[in-house]
Amino acid sequence: MSSTTTVSSPVEAVRLADPYPYYARLVAERPFAWDEALGAWVAADAAAVRAVLGSGALRVRPVAEPVPAGIAGTAAGEVFGELVRMTDGARAARLKQVVAGALARADTAYAASLAGRLTREVLAEGGEVPYEELMFGVPARVVADLSGLTEGAGREAARAIGDFVQCIPAAATEDQYRAAAAAATRLRALLGPALTEAQATPLGPPAAGAAAAYSVRPGQAQGLLGELVAGAERDGWAHAGPLLSNAIGFLSQTYDATAGLIGNTLVALARGAGGADLDALVREVVRYDAPIQNTRRFAAESFTYAGSTVEPGQQVLVLLAAANRDPAVNPDPHTLSPERVNPAVFTFGAAAHRCPGAELATALAGAVVTELRAAGLGTTATPAYRPLANARIPLL
Ligand code: HEM
Repeated sequence: MSSTTTVSSPVEAVRLADPYPYYARLVAERPFAWDEALGAWVAADAAAVRAVLGSGALRVRPVAEPVPAGIAGTAAGEVFGELVRMTDGARAARLKQVVAGALARADTAYAASLAGRLTREVLAEGGEVPYEELMFGVPARVVADLSGLTEGAGREAARAIGDFVQCIPAAATEDQYRAAAAAATRLRALLGPALTEAQATPLGPPAAGAAAAYSVRPGQAQGLLGELVAGAERDGWAHAGPLLSNAIGFLSQTYDATAGLIGNTLVALARGAGGADLDALVREVVRYDAPIQNTRRFAAESFTYAGSTVEPGQQVLVLLAAANRDPAVNPDPHTLSPERVNPAVFTFGAAAHRCPGAELATALAGAVVTELRAAGLGTTATPAYRPLANARIPLL
């Protein structure tokens, strides 16, 4: 079956067995064009994706609806409205520096070793392989640990974040909004004390025995929340609320995307990709089979590109996964080649909202896949995919 004949929209492409011939056609024939059925502009080639992500006229949320109406006024709405991912402007840019600074200091070697250990523990429980727990649960539990939660609290936070992220898609239901609001309340209760503790702790290494289940480690004095607080203090940022929201954001940003990277790497291995350097494979899968296939922008002001004008209020769907395979920026783009040198990769976004968690995400995914491979576990080469609008995650 040719996937090119079955695609009716770039949103549907996310869950196809092979969306790439369709994307390639868009890159070649409609690099930046209005999609009538979608009611949105679609940016497909690398140049258009770069221009859209780099434009100040295009924002991450519609001006008229900064927070989805279904969660406005709830704890989920309050968290959403403070995420650097979901806000623009000078205040968001300043907070982004603090958030990115904390992630830049994350101990990725420790995170990888903990991800490996948790994966082995989950597998040792026996029975049917719980791929859900391995793909979604383990990365979230590691980020919870980096945030100072105990193992039990980390497990709870990993479950709650699964409910919280349901409020993000435009097609969320009332039940999902309600569950997200309850999850946000619970996540604040779990992470709030860890943040308060980080605020009360003077800078420097933690006292012996003071940290959470796995958190005492050389070279990692403070964990993510300690780094958030220290960065905020350096910046003279006095507001604790947004720090707590963005601590929840660490978990929500990890959740679907890292699960997709683990799953898509397993699919690449099942299709015969190999080589000794699994980390290089993971990084190439980021480009070749992007776990986040698209993102959106909303015009606050008019934006003109290549003769087309996006009017205020209109939406742009940004096809990161298509741009990754644009032959203008990556030679032989449809070949999975872990040896590539400096490929152009759009999977982590670009410009003001570029993902600050890329290193952590690839370390986590590499560690989980390494353990699965060592245990002789994997997936089929042609799985079905979850029916999601932007994350490409195989059903294992
Ligand atoms: C494979 C895994 C991941 C992928 C593919 C991914 C992808 C992305 C993308 C595309 C964006 C930008 C969205 C946009 O501009 O519309 C983003 C933003 C962000 N990501 Fe990631 N991400 C991953 C993992 C992580 C992890 C593990 C963390 C942190 C623990 C993280 C933290 C963030 C944050 C805080 C933002 C918001 C940045 C901003 O808006 O300024 N991400 N991510």
